[in-house]
Amino acid sequence: MATDNTYSNLIHQTFNFPQEGFEVKDDQLYFNDIPLMDIIKQYGTPLRISYLPKISSQIQKAKRMFNVAMAKSDYKGKYFYCYCTKSSHFSFVLDEVLKNECHIETSSAFDINIIKEQFQKKTLNKDTYIICNGYKRSNYKQNICELINDGFNVIPVLDHLDEIDYYKKHAKVDKVDIGIRISTEEEPSFTFYTSRLGIRDSQILDFYKEKIQGNPKFNLKLLHFFINTGIKDTIYYWTELTKCLSIYKSLREICPGLDSLNIGGGMPIRTSLGFEYDYEYMVEEIISQIKLFCVENEIPEPNIFTEFGSYTVGESGATLYSIIDQKKQNDRETWYMIDSSFITTLPDTWGINQRFILMAINHWDKPYIPVNLGGLTCDSMDYYNTEAHTNQVVLPKVEDKQKSTIISWIFSHRSISRSIKWIRWHTTLFNSCTKTCFDRSR
Ligand SMILES: Cc1ncc(COP(=O)(O)O)c(C=O)c1O
Repeated sequence: MATDNTYSNLIHQTFNFPQEGFEVKDDQLYFNDIPLMDIIKQYGTPLRISYLPKISSQIQKAKRMFNVAMAKSDYKGKYFYCYCTKSSHFSFVLDEVLKNECHIETSSAFDINIIKEQFQKKTLNKDTYIICNGYKRSNYKQNICELINDGFNVIPVLDHLDEIDYYKKHAKVDKVDIGIRISTEEEPSFTFYTSRLGIRDSQILDFYKEKIQGNPKFNLKLLHFFINTGIKDTIYYWTELTKCLSIYKSLREICPGLDSLNIGGGMPIRTSLGFEYDYEYMVEEIISQIKLFCVENEIPEPNIFTEFGSYTVGESGATLYSIIDQKKQNDRETWYMIDSSFITTLPDTWGINQRFILMAINHWDKPYIPVNLGGLTCDSMDYYNTEAHTNQVVLPKVEDKQKSTIISWIFSHRSISRSIKWIRWHTTLFNSCTKTCFDRSR
């Protein structure tokens, strides 16, 4: 019987739907034109899928936006898109990223092995920038020096005052480009004032004069900052950007080799169907503010590096679960039990209260009800019951024995876990034949 209060009507009336990457045909959800129910029939659940073309389209979109913004402002510097390996270190992700003339940011000793393997595979070369961030223990510094000594285009970003001593001793080449990370102030509501990452702004100039300036082996090429709360149109963001530009200017006056600014990651992604963000505006505003600052202070515009992690991979994946049972524990609350655990397969939901896009895959023609979603572990925190735009989760109401409602998640890199099956899309195969093709490797 036709009814108005269907799940389908709810989604269509609440959001601007269908939207990029999601549409519904015959009351079933399609993700980037892929019929998810067909995937589930073939592979079962729980299942995590990666739609690799989305990674390339995100990278191309960012490159386009920065290049257009630079052209509009007559900006003289260049734009470099770096991908941070910590966001997803799977080789099929790296392979896809590196199809797009990207550079790489690393944050641990293990990442250097990834660089070497990708070099063997010829997906990157010795012109690719390898920006080495993070606090570095000796293993990491040793691996960085191996890359430097092998002729890779490495920029270790100093996170600590003593870090350079290691490179002085172990880097055997004539010239080493280095960067410095500025320790930023946190937002006023945060539990501490200054980030533990990087070097205090008040120490940077003296540090440069003391340890770098007179040493012909080192060229301070890049200044890096990362604003933890992300790239947002807030007074806080613009104030921090201006502070970093002031440090850039002071350094640039005494360091002619300094020609690049790395503005870090933090480009937001959709975590709700109601997500609104004006990417073009933010990129144009960043570029025009930097340009204006440089013109006013008569310094050349720096090259701009970004290290977008979530933005690169976050919207390329989905996690699919089945509802295997339901429990009514009082008159108002219905629990839908999933065939997995949130704590182990989507740890962000529990650890940092991250919300994701959540949708039913089938039963869109059924009425909707608010539910709590329960994981299979006996940990009471293994549940999910709010979304980014509302304090509840709503899914189709299915009969007790109709245990087939499926939900889908867009996942962020921090949620990547190997505990459930991975499948990988071969774009070329997928595009060239009507059959869906997978490779179950790794
Ligand atoms: C130095 C640095 N760069 C880039 C990133 C990636 O950030 P996002 O995923 O917000 O783009 C992080 C995240 O922690 C980071 O610490």
